[in-house]
Amino acid sequence: MQRRTALKWIVRTLASFCAAIVALPGVCFVAAALRKNKGRGATIQRVAKLGDLPVGQPVEFPIIAERRDAWALYPQEAIGRVWVVRRSDDSVEAAASQVDAYTSVCPHLGCAISHDSSAEQFTCPCHQAAWNVTGERVADAELGHKNVSPRSMDMLQSKLVLDSQTDEWWVEVSYEKFEYGLTQKKTKA
Ligand code: FES
Repeated sequence: MQRRTALKWIVRTLASFCAAIVALPGVCFVAAALRKNKGRGATIQRVAKLGDLPVGQPVEFPIIAERRDAWALYPQEAIGRVWVVRRSDDSVEAAASQVDAYTSVCPHLGCAISHDSSAEQFTCPCHQAAWNVTGERVADAELGHKNVSPRSMDMLQSKLVLDSQTDEWWVEVSYEKFEYGLTQKKTKA
């Protein structure tokens, strides 16, 4: 009787051990995918040479990166767009130049922001939100209707970097996505 009980226990232990070995790769795969999705940070990219940017005129650039959607990996595609504005001219040393970058995602409901050079405004075609050239909301009275944007355009971190091989200054942007519909900028989880 005791020997039979011991055999049963050994068989059960072996079965559990085998099941754990079979399940382990799947568990690791799921955990790795979740970790990658959770740990998504900013995408850092050089978008333009400083010398190629017109002063005071916004220029739009795509952000190219790998995109992971659950288990699928989409290599090197546009994951977003940014508006870049060079503020200072050549009288300012390159290293001290001011360049601003904004995501082109509208903070109202996420449509793509465009630039109206005749009005010198950024505008969103979906619900006619508008921002001035420094990315601030245009007042309702100036716009002639309610500006539905809950906040200014979302400015991105950017800096000038010197390419040591070509000796040219580049604008490097740190691209992130933000929540829509909030009065304060909040990075998407
Ligand atoms: S999504 Fe841009 S104004 Fe509504």
